[in-house]
This record gives sequence, C-alpha cells and structure tokens, in this order.
Amino acid sequence: MSQLLVRGGGLLRGETPVQGAKNSVLPILAATILTADQVELQNCPRLRDVDASVRILRELGCEAHWEGGTLLVDTAGLNGCGISDILMREMRSSAIFLGAILARCGQAELSYPGGCELGPRPIDLHLSGLRDLGAEIDDAGGTLHCRASRLQGREIVLSIPSVGATENLMLAACGAGGVTTIANAAREPEIVDLQAFLTACGGQVFGAGTSTVTVTGGRKLHGCTYTAMPDRIVAATYLCAAASAGGRVFLRGAEEGHLSTVTAVLREAGCEIRPDAQGLVCSCRGQRTAVRPVRTAPYPGFPTDAQAILMAALLRSRGATVFEENMFENRYRHVDELTRMGANIRVFGRTAVVSGVERLYGAPVRCTDLRGGAALCVAALAAEGETCVSETSHIARGYEDLARDLRALGAETSWVD
Ligand code: UD1
Repeated sequence: MSQLLVRGGGLLRGETPVQGAKNSVLPILAATILTADQVELQNCPRLRDVDASVRILRELGCEAHWEGGTLLVDTAGLNGCGISDILMREMRSSAIFLGAILARCGQAELSYPGGCELGPRPIDLHLSGLRDLGAEIDDAGGTLHCRASRLQGREIVLSIPSVGATENLMLAACGAGGVTTIANAAREPEIVDLQAFLTACGGQVFGAGTSTVTVTGGRKLHGCTYTAMPDRIVAATYLCAAASAGGRVFLRGAEEGHLSTVTAVLREAGCEIRPDAQGLVCSCRGQRTAVRPVRTAPYPGFPTDAQAILMAALLRSRGATVFEENMFENRYRHVDELTRMGANIRVFGRTAVVSGVERLYGAPVRCTDLRGGAALCVAALAAEGETCVSETSHIARGYEDLARDLRALGAETSWVD
C-alpha cells in the first residue's frame, strides 16, 4: 500500500468538491436489495468500504458497475442470503445487510462483524430489534442464522441511539407487515438520507432526523436514481486542514447544517467560516486558540468521527483543550503518532488534554484507523519538514483520494509506493 508524503509549513489556498458520504451510501447499498430492481446511485464515493459493499452485493448474485461517479446496482438477480466470513470481516458495517436480506429472503446467514480498531463493536441492539420484529436468530459458532417467515411491525425502543441499529431496523421494517416505530432512533443526517432513498423507492418512512422513525412496511419497493449527500466528516477534515495550516479554502458542496457543532468549535478557535450557495469558505489567519471542552456525542452532538481531526488542528493552538470521547473505547490511538510529531497530549481514560506547542516536526507516522490516519495528515500540514504517513489503507476506507484533495487545497502532498 502507498505511503502519503506531506510537506508541511505552507498556507492553504484552493478549493475542492466534497465527495459523497460513505456512511450514507453504505446503508443505501444494503437497501438496494429491498428493491429487486435497478438503482442508479449518483455521487457515490469510490472507497474501499464501498468496494466491499459491491463485493457483498455480487456475492449475493446482484450486479453492480461504475459509470464515472455513479454506481449502478441491479438486485433483481439476488440468489443468495449468506455473506462469507471474509467479506463480513473486511468491513465492520457489513451487519447493515442483515435487515435488508432478511426482509427480502426471509432468512440470512452472516458471521459476526467482530471487533474493530476502535474497540468492541457489538450488534446486540440490531439483533434484539430484529427479534422484536419476529426474526429467530441463532448465533452458535459465531455465525448468525436468521429466519423470519414473516416480519411483523411493532414498537422497538433502542437503549442507545445507534446509527447502524436504526438503519438495519429501518430496512427490515420495510419488509415487515404493518407499522414499525423505532424509538430513541439515531438522528444523524445519514439516516435522513436513507429515509429519502427509501421514499424515492416507494417506501413509507417518516421521522428520520428526530428520535422516532416510523416505517409502514409491506409495500413493494422499486428502483430509482438517487444522489448521495455530501460527506460531512470529509468536509470537517478539510476545514480542520485549513485550521491546522492556515489559509483560505472553499469546500464545494459542503453543507454547514450537517456540521454545525464542528464549525462552532472551529470559529471558537479563531477560524472564519462562511456558507454560500455552493459550499463553505473557511479562512484561518494567525494562531488558533484553545477551545472549551469537546465532548463527543450522538448527533447533533460533536461527532466522534471528527474528534481526531479536530485534535490535530489544535496541536499548535494557544492554551489547552480537553477532549472527552464518549462513543468508542479505543479512539485515541492516533495520539502516540501525533506525539512523534512533537504534539503535547496526555490521555486519562476517555479524556485527552491537548496543550498547544510552538512547533510540530515532520516524522514517519503510521495510521491506526481511518479518521486517526486523516488526523496525521491534518497535523502534518502544520509541521516543519516532511511527514511520511504509512498504513494508509485505513484512509482509503473513507477518502477517495486524500492527497489529491489536499493538493487541490494548496498542500504539498503525494502518494509514494
Ligand atoms: C456509525 C458510523 C461511524 C460513527 C458511529 C458513531 C457508519 C457506517 N458508521 O457507526 O462512522 O463513528 O456511527 O457516530 O455509519 N452499540 C452497542 N450495541 C449495538 C450497536 C451499537 O452497544 O448493537 C454502541 C457502540 O459500541 C457505540 C455506540 O453504540 O459505543 C454507537 O454506535 P453506533 O451508533 O451503532 O455506530 P455505528 O453504526 O457502528
């Protein structure tokens, strides 16, 4: 896998479009199974996780091919209901296929997606919700054998507003008889996007973006042409890149409405961010200042996926910022790598304290996970000299081409083998 070289120290100046949202297209690709028809998914980012979804669809007998930035999927020929262990392990969010396969086939066979680099990633809420809808699930030997001769809608109360569980249950509920109500549902913009996709396919789904999602199931869905929303975490990454290096960038297609907790913190740190009809302009002059404690929380709280990249943007700020990670157990693995570049960060359990330093230095560093890897690049933009970022396959899971986009924003970055 290639390494990413970043020569830091220069101001950014430039613009880039923001790719389609990974966390939106992954559940939408699972949802295509419900249509047994053709779907044209526009603005679909070309990512490792999307490739994994395409491989899953093909393994199930579906067709999928690219035409530029559009992914064309035809799920009419689906002839399987099982996903092999190797594909399940490749992408942690593969569990999202469970609800859709079960709704279409009345049975599904998947292995557990298992833990991941962020710590344990249980799917107990997905499974108990599916059981509430009438599925019988046997998980002997690490394989989930799921069966449901008929799914029946009812009220499901999630104990945590899990994004994946909300999406999985929305998909299963489309195939269930009657009305399903998901209480304490996640409110992320990607859930609103999934609802919009299902509606475009003829589904009856309401309430996404609030804590109660209602699905009237049992309707036959059809294919459609749909455009995925812009990726708010990729947009946050490029805003943080500007905050780290300084300068002025324009992010075409970025929507501030999806990002307001991130832009609020960056404004507090001294950046000027201005929305216009086409996107977001971000200007950052002088030094950043430390900000009030940043606590990750389900949407509309501060996104856990933006924690590492914001931390990287504040490494040279005036003063100290406290981070509190409340979503995943193991989400400070980037800290040791940032420390190699001269950062001053102390971690106490789920709290990290970032004390601004005068200078950062280019160093050989290693990606530990997707957003942690992006954070290393954000920090490298503000470091003296060259940073060589290795194990970039993590980055390829969520960014189409991070070096290309940072270069468009005026950074000196390149891939090397
Ligand atoms: C999604 C996003 C991920 C983001 C996360 C939190 C996708 C593909 N991924 O992941 O980028 O970091 O939301 O915003 O959309 N939990 C349980 N049991 C369950 C399900 C979740 O205990 O059955 C816990 C998790 O361990 C975690 C919390 O709930 O602590 C939130 O997880 P969840 O919202 O489900 O995240 P994902 O859907 O996996």
